[in-house]
Amino acid sequence: MLQVENLRKVYGNELQYEALKGINLTVEDGEFIGIMGPSGSGKTTFLNLLATIDQPTSGSILLNGKNPNTLNQEEIAKFRRKELGFVFQSFNLMPTLTVEENIVLPLTLDGEKVSRMKKQVRDLAPRLGIETLLPKRIGEISGGQAQRVAVARAMIHHPELLLADEPTGNLDTKSSRDVMGLLRQLNQEEQATILMVTHDPLAASFCQRIVFIKDGELVDEMHNDGNQGRFYDRIITELARIEGVDNEF
Ligand SMILES: Nc1ncnc2c1ncn2[C@@H]1O[C@H](COP(=O)(O)OP(=O)(O)OP(=O)(O)O)[C@@H](O)[C@H]1O
Ligand SMILES: [Mg+2]
Repeated sequence: MLQVENLRKVYGNELQYEALKGINLTVEDGEFIGIMGPSGSGKTTFLNLLATIDQPTSGSILLNGKNPNTLNQEEIAKFRRKELGFVFQSFNLMPTLTVEENIVLPLTLDGEKVSRMKKQVRDLAPRLGIETLLPKRIGEISGGQAQRVAVARAMIHHPELLLADEPTGNLDTKSSRDVMGLLRQLNQEEQATILMVTHDPLAASFCQRIVFIKDGELVDEMHNDGNQGRFYDRIITELARIEGVDNEF
């Protein structure tokens, strides 16, 4: 579903910085992938390129055979709305709108009928445990609840690819588990492909595969054999190795 070839990103004009140094990655339909690596290694840069928020310096991205970088502005906007979903750490919800209005926002932008939007929300809300929150404003709900609302908004239009940057970054352990359980459920029930950047080994242990990035390069990958506890331990060991921490303290 996603094919990334030799993707490079160089920031700056006079003072240049190569944030991505030729990334190659193939993602199958319905995969749930985690992206991990030290701070500054290029994770958000990578996600922004996939999200068409930023343009690569060279290399190519093919999403279901389409290269988003060959589309014009209008086509890109439509592509983002129809095929992509986003969950970001800072939630990006509209504070003056209600929970329900926030969730249907992507559909509103696409001119969907109100009756259909309401039905979609009624179908999705119970699965996310947010039915009672629908009439509230964003300022009246907790951070964990807001993150679940952000997941709902990202899923409401059934995107082919869900991109998440630190979706559990602001959450306590209980809310993190809830949000990750939800992402896993949506991945399994709707076969949504998910790419998630995270520092959190617990969140990462919900993924089927983790790719590790360091200094703008993919340096390793790991597959979940179905034992989440063991996968969690392997992730911690690998992170320590990549970040150059020795375990002797
Ligand atoms: N707009 C920009 N202009 C110049 N350099 C940038 C820009 N954005 C990011 N960088 C640099 O590119 C590198 C990768 O940044 P990126 O945000 O992708 O890291 P990250 O892996 O997401 O880190 P973190 O875990 O801290 O979020 C960093 O060295 C950063 O300073
Ligand atoms: Mg980042």
